[in-house]
Amino acid sequence: MFNKLQQKWNVSSIQLFLILCTFAVTGTTTAYVSRVATTWVGFDETTYWLWKLALRLSILIFGYQIIILIVSFFFGQFRFFWNYEKKILRRLGLISKEPIRLAIFASGKGSNAEKIIQYLEDHPIVKVSLVVCNRPGAGVLDIAAHHGIKTLLIEKNLFENSSEYVQVLKNEGVTHVVLAGFLWKIPKNLVQAYNNKIVNIHPALLPAYGGKGMYGEKVHQAVIKAGEKQSGITIHLVDEHYDNGKTLFQATVDVLPVDNADSLAEKIHALEHEHYPRVISKWLKII
Ligand code: GAR
Repeated sequence: MFNKLQQKWNVSSIQLFLILCTFAVTGTTTAYVSRVATTWVGFDETTYWLWKLALRLSILIFGYQIIILIVSFFFGQFRFFWNYEKKILRRLGLISKEPIRLAIFASGKGSNAEKIIQYLEDHPIVKVSLVVCNRPGAGVLDIAAHHGIKTLLIEKNLFENSSEYVQVLKNEGVTHVVLAGFLWKIPKNLVQAYNNKIVNIHPALLPAYGGKGMYGEKVHQAVIKAGEKQSGITIHLVDEHYDNGKTLFQATVDVLPVDNADSLAEKIHALEHEHYPRVISKWLKII
């Protein structure tokens, strides 16, 4: 029986032992909490029995899910049980059930792409299945290779004037597109094929400092030149216009008198790395 469980959960025998300990301690703790909780909330012999039963059952059903996460933490098994909880939430329809296949589009170094790849690594229903790039030799291609992710190097004329790449994405089963420092405008056919399923990050507080020609360094230089006191990041859905779709998230950063375009770029990158993977997960309705 233990061997079967070990195989089913794909864990070592020590981990199996710790998992079983977590279940055992959680069971006793929950039973204890549900028993004493009636006293904590002030219920006594005069309280209608149905209220007491409702409270005990709620703790046994919902409290158990919280207690198991706390206990698992002490046994070093939080990750295992968090995945187990996510399965329950998925079954209840509270988080997305459908497998998600992402294509990340990037033109440069790919630091954002890397953070997203790392954040989603080992996710049970999300896979970064393709990295699309328009610049041979771009750092993001090395990052993709390092993580064993397929790459697609695209050519401008085909990208803008044919549906060839949309077909490639469809053939790869791509469900959502993430732009992470991708500098070409997304053509109409791609926007239509992935309506509300393309997200972008812009290194400024849109609608300011957006639009054609406003990318990377150029944005930061313009912000510094204008003497702005604040800049930030905008994560938004992509439509047929540059930097125009619905805003999902913004965060700000102070621009200090000592800042130049490089130091501002560094601060903005830190902000992007902190928020972009998390906002993408929220957008995808996954945890
Ligand atoms: C990021 O700062 C991103 O916001 C910006 O390019 C940089 C890419 O950095 N995107 C745009 O300017 C889009 N208009 P990375 O390659 O290190 O992720």
